[in-house]
Amino acid sequence: MTAQEVAVLDYGSQYSQLIVRRVRELGFVSHLYPPAELANLKDPGAIILSGGPRSTSEKDAPDVDYDKLMSFGVPVLGVCYGMQLLNIKHGGTVKPGVTREYGPAKLVVTDHEDLFKGISHESQVWMSHSDTCANLASTTKVIATNEDAIPVALKWSERCWGIQFHPEVTHSHEGTAILKNFLINSGAKLAKFDIEAFKAQMLDRIKAEVGNREVICGVSGGVDSTVLAVLLAKAGVKVRCIFIDTGMMRLNEAAEVKELFGKVGVPIEQIDASATFLGALKGVTDPEQKRRIIGTLFVEEFWKVADNVELLAQGTLYPDVIESATSGSIASKIKTHHNRVDKIMELKEQGKVLEPLAELFKDEVRALGASLGIPHQALWRHPFPGPGLAVRIPGEITAERVATTQHADAIFIAELRRSGWYERTWQAYAALLPVKTVGVKGDERSYEQAISLRAVISEDAMTADWVELPYSVLRNASNKILNSVKGVNRVLYDISTKPPASIEWE
Ligand code: XMP
Repeated sequence: MTAQEVAVLDYGSQYSQLIVRRVRELGFVSHLYPPAELANLKDPGAIILSGGPRSTSEKDAPDVDYDKLMSFGVPVLGVCYGMQLLNIKHGGTVKPGVTREYGPAKLVVTDHEDLFKGISHESQVWMSHSDTCANLASTTKVIATNEDAIPVALKWSERCWGIQFHPEVTHSHEGTAILKNFLINSGAKLAKFDIEAFKAQMLDRIKAEVGNREVICGVSGGVDSTVLAVLLAKAGVKVRCIFIDTGMMRLNEAAEVKELFGKVGVPIEQIDASATFLGALKGVTDPEQKRRIIGTLFVEEFWKVADNVELLAQGTLYPDVIESATSGSIASKIKTHHNRVDKIMELKEQGKVLEPLAELFKDEVRALGASLGIPHQALWRHPFPGPGLAVRIPGEITAERVATTQHADAIFIAELRRSGWYERTWQAYAALLPVKTVGVKGDERSYEQAISLRAVISEDAMTADWVELPYSVLRNASNKILNSVKGVNRVLYDISTKPPASIEWE
């Protein structure tokens, strides 16, 4: 038998792609599939059924073709909803819950034989469910419980297990080790994940999907669009890279981007559309409306430059996809990311949008970029949102407010670079608050604006923590901003985690 991929069946959990990512981190090839794709899988090496928001007792709840699942003769793991589904298939039942158990819980292992080999007797896991497995078939073995002795891990056969918790999230302290046990101790024959092979596959896929069509690719200088542009250039397809200056970029951004693309040898066309964007945003204060306006203008500006272009390439990553899932899909809508606005959805329906990075997380994109020969500094630039400084300027956006934000931001970023903190943070920036506060400048009362600094660490932007920057770094940045940014008399440091806050202000 040849080594094969780990197929993850997606029952709609927000964490489904994280399972794929953990499997890749463990060094194996893995892909996510809608449950119905089970019928078309070609010799998978192992199958994982993800969690999901539905209840198995609901009418039309997503199901699994059990005979097909077992016909592969490979190890199977059900997570949360996946476990409940498998318990029913093995002759047990699922009890509908009235309340949702959400958060950390204690895992008490009662059988260390395979799935929990080397796992602590007691450890923290992350739960997110309301239904529970109830009556178990007599052949079902309980291999772990929670602290109230309720079964949370089941073994139905030598090749089939279920766990009620989410091993893929970092809050399950030994989650990755449990997944590793599943992949290694189960006897699965698995294909090794290798970035070079992955890159080659991606280049082939792009070539096949694009064919002779001309692709237009928006570049911002950020990691995602840079990797995308170089990937398209390396795939040898016809590509035009366009940098639209929205007027809401960071200080000197246009010049820096030009220099970067010169270095990687990919030509770009720069268009200054700042007057159009700022004009359209006049008087607009609603965050979603701002995003929609910017997203729509982006596409219009593209189409102005390249009227007959047949394909639009976007550096959309997995967290963007999951966070702007449209209503009707299983994951719930959180906020409209600029590359998911209506106009783009229309183009998508016409098959005119190419998103080759959509199954990747940021660190995977960086690894891909390194293997494409993109310079370290470009890969480690902080992510910058599509709508730019607009999402960091709550309230109305004016050229003056943008200039104030740019100036403060440049000072903060320079201080992070000087102190060695830039690459130790995932993302950092200055936001301009829509308030004025009283202060004293010289001998006079001042009534000026407030800047809020934010620096976060994150693994994949889905959760984030604020960075404990040294006071000296904060003090230097604050002093410089207060002394040189016109119209600012107060500097704050944002100490909010995501969730409940988001990384950006809007
Ligand atoms: P939030 O604010 O949602 O941000 O916690 C998570 C990550 O996504 C970036 N971000 C965006 N990126 N278009 C993008 O390309 C957008 O509309 C957008 N909004 C947020 C944000 O900078 C952070 O890295």
